[in-house]
Amino acid sequence: MLNKFKEIKEKGFIEINKNLDIDFKKEIEKLKIEKNAIILAHYYVDGEIQDIADFVGDSLALAQKAASTDADMIVFVGVHFMAETAKILSPNKKVILPDFNAGCSLADSCPDDKFEEFIKLHSDHTVISYVNTTAKVKALTDIVCTSSNAKIIVNSVPKDKKIIFGPDRNLGNYISRITGREMVIWDGACHVHNEFSLEGILDLKKQNPDAKIIAHPECPKQIVLVSDYVGSTSGLINFVKEDKAKTFIVATEPGVIHEMQKLSVGKFFIPAPGEDSECACSECEFMKLNSIKKLYSCLLHELPEIKVDKEIRERAYKPIKAMLDLS
Ligand code: 13P
Ligand code: SF4
Repeated sequence: MLNKFKEIKEKGFIEINKNLDIDFKKEIEKLKIEKNAIILAHYYVDGEIQDIADFVGDSLALAQKAASTDADMIVFVGVHFMAETAKILSPNKKVILPDFNAGCSLADSCPDDKFEEFIKLHSDHTVISYVNTTAKVKALTDIVCTSSNAKIIVNSVPKDKKIIFGPDRNLGNYISRITGREMVIWDGACHVHNEFSLEGILDLKKQNPDAKIIAHPECPKQIVLVSDYVGSTSGLINFVKEDKAKTFIVATEPGVIHEMQKLSVGKFFIPAPGEDSECACSECEFMKLNSIKKLYSCLLHELPEIKVDKEIRERAYKPIKAMLDLS
């Protein structure tokens, strides 16, 4: 066992023997039943993983599913903060993540000690934190939000109460514009959404004049302003399904296109290019750390496991529960 923990510390997962010649998908199915496990996956992971998951969703739907499942084990195919949120909501279940190194640049842009100092400077403010944060940051928060419910959560705070919003400045500024609420906003961002190229998007629009531009609210203002629709991953998926346009330029992680293609047959999706990325693909490398082999390994070994200190867990539960109650 000690070696396994060492391997996880060094690599983030337990490597499967390269010569192992098995049908990984079938074995995952078997292990899942044997262990009464549920596989939850985010829209940004590879399509082949989304296809074998029991439930695919945006971060709000995944949190709701984690809170309500009666499985004994949750396999979270996403990133660390999502699995941590599942553990906070279901502390008696074993929560595992295929690669422990699947982090989030946005969560990393908000260290809890610095956030605590920031809150102290505005001690009469209600603290709203985006779900893309560590459990320690959530423990300092009054209400958590996701991109699907941020407007509802901000509007739920009485008008005479001042608000701190963290850590995403783009989402914070967007919500501030659409609600008319002034907020003190933490200066964090996601390295994927913050880097979309306006020039690249407008070039694509020139080449496809009938295409609609759709964007996640983690994108900066200049991208949001040229977009026909702004919403969470599930909001974007629903929009393209309902909208009459045939072609969409998609300014979010391109993993989401898998579900769009499934639900909107005959429509075309063009991933928006990133500013500097060599492949111009705007993939989230943390989400893409997940693979079928790692998923098999984590179910087999029940590792890497997500654990959250009891005191932090209890404090972090309250703002997440407050969000779920309002959603
Ligand atoms: P959603 O809440 O829209 O699923 O987004 C999660 C995320 O990590 C966006 O980068
Ligand atoms: Fe985090 Fe950005 Fe990846 Fe979403 S896309 S998980 S915000 S790094």
